[in-house]
Amino acid sequence: MNDHKPELHRNTLAVREASERSQYGENSEALYLTSGYVQPSAEAAARRFAGDEDGFTYGRYGNPTVTSFEQRLAALEGAEACISTASGMSAILMMCMGLLKTGDHVICSHSMFGSTIKLIGSDLARFGVESTFVSQTDIAAWKAAVKPNTKLLFAETPTNPLTEVCDIRALADIAHAAGALLCVDNCFATPALQRPISLGADIVMHSGTKYLDGQGRVMAGALCASQELVTKTFLPVLKSAGMTLAPFNAWVVLKGLETLEIRMRAQSANALALAQWLEAHPAVERVFYPGLASHPQHALAMAQQSGCGGAVLSFVVKAADPEQARARAFHVLDSLQVMSLSTNLGDTKTLMAHPASTSHGRLTEAQRQTAGVVQGLIRVAVGLEHLGDIQADLDRGLTTF
Ligand SMILES: Cc1ncc(COP(=O)(O)O)c(C=O)c1O
Repeated sequence: MNDHKPELHRNTLAVREASERSQYGENSEALYLTSGYVQPSAEAAARRFAGDEDGFTYGRYGNPTVTSFEQRLAALEGAEACISTASGMSAILMMCMGLLKTGDHVICSHSMFGSTIKLIGSDLARFGVESTFVSQTDIAAWKAAVKPNTKLLFAETPTNPLTEVCDIRALADIAHAAGALLCVDNCFATPALQRPISLGADIVMHSGTKYLDGQGRVMAGALCASQELVTKTFLPVLKSAGMTLAPFNAWVVLKGLETLEIRMRAQSANALALAQWLEAHPAVERVFYPGLASHPQHALAMAQQSGCGGAVLSFVVKAADPEQARARAFHVLDSLQVMSLSTNLGDTKTLMAHPASTSHGRLTEAQRQTAGVVQGLIRVAVGLEHLGDIQADLDRGLTTF
C-alpha cells in the first residue's frame, strides 16, 4: 500500500495507510492475534530469519497488525519507517539501547516527563551513559552542553506538564553540527499538529498510550525514523530485548489514528477556551498553555504546531506557601464530580492530576523545582466534554478554598 503514499493527503493516509487486506477483503483492518507463523519451507524460514526475505516469523519480531500501525504512523509523521513498542518508555529504552554505549553523552531538557528523566539521568547512568539536563527553551544552553561524546539530543515539546516549547529546527542544527541525532517526543502535539522530521529531527518518539489511542484503552509506544535507523539500529534491540507491541494494542492504536486529527482539533479548541477562562479566574495564579498569548513561547508554538496549542494545560492555584498550595490543589482535585482524577492524558475524557505528587513524585525536590513542578500545579488534559461542564467541575473546588 506504500505506493499510494506520495499522492494522498495526511488525513486520507490516517484512515487508509496499512498492510494489504487479507483474502477476505475486510474493510476495517484485520486483527491478527498470533504469536507464530507457519513457514512455506525450511529454506524460506532460513531466509526470513536471516533477513534476506520478507515474511513474518515470530511475534516478538513482527506482526501484520503491528506493521499496519507502524506504516500508518510513519505516513502521518512523514518518516520513512516506524518501529513500535509496548509503551512509550520502552520506545525510549529501545532508542537508547540502540544508539548509546558506555561513555556516550545525551543532552535532555530538565523539564521532560519524570520517567524519562529517571531513565536517562539515573538508570542509564548505571551503565556509564552520561547526561546533561538543560533548560528546555535556552538554545545557548543546549549548544554549550555539547561534548565530543554527545550522541543524542532529546527534547519533548510541548513538555509535560508545563507545556514549554522548544525550537525543533534550532536543536536539529545543534545536534547535526555535533554529529549527534535529535529525537523529539511528539506525544503532546502528535503528527496532527507537529511533524518534527520536517523540521530536521532524526527520530520522533511516541507514547501511543496517549492521543494516538485517544480513548485511554491501551499502552503503546513507537519510534519513527529513517529506514536505516529502524532496520539496523532499533529492530535488533527489539529482537533481543523484546519490548514488542501486542497485536491487539496495535489494532486499537491503528484505529485511533483514524480520528486523531479531529480529536486533536476539537480537544485543543476546548483547551484554549478553558485556558482563557482559568487565566481570568481569581483563584488562579498562572496558566501554562501554548495557545495563550501570555505563554513565553506562544509565537514559536503557533508556527511549529499548526497554529494550535494542543489539548494539555497546567495552572497554579493561588496560595501563601507550598503547603497551602498543595492543600488547595488537592481540594480542587477532590472536588471533581464529573472529570477524572487521573495521571494519564490523551483521552476523550478530561483528566486532571497533581504532577508534584504523581508523574514527578519520584524526582527529588530540587529536580522538581528546576522543572517548575510546584505544589500548587494542576495539569488538565482536556477532553471532549462540553466546556461548561468542565468549567463547573473545576469552579467547585476553586471557589471553596
Ligand atoms: C511526554 C511523555 N512521554 C513519554 C511517556 C511515557 O509513555 P508510556 O506511559 O506509554 O510509557 C509519557 C507518559 O505519560 C509522556 O507523558
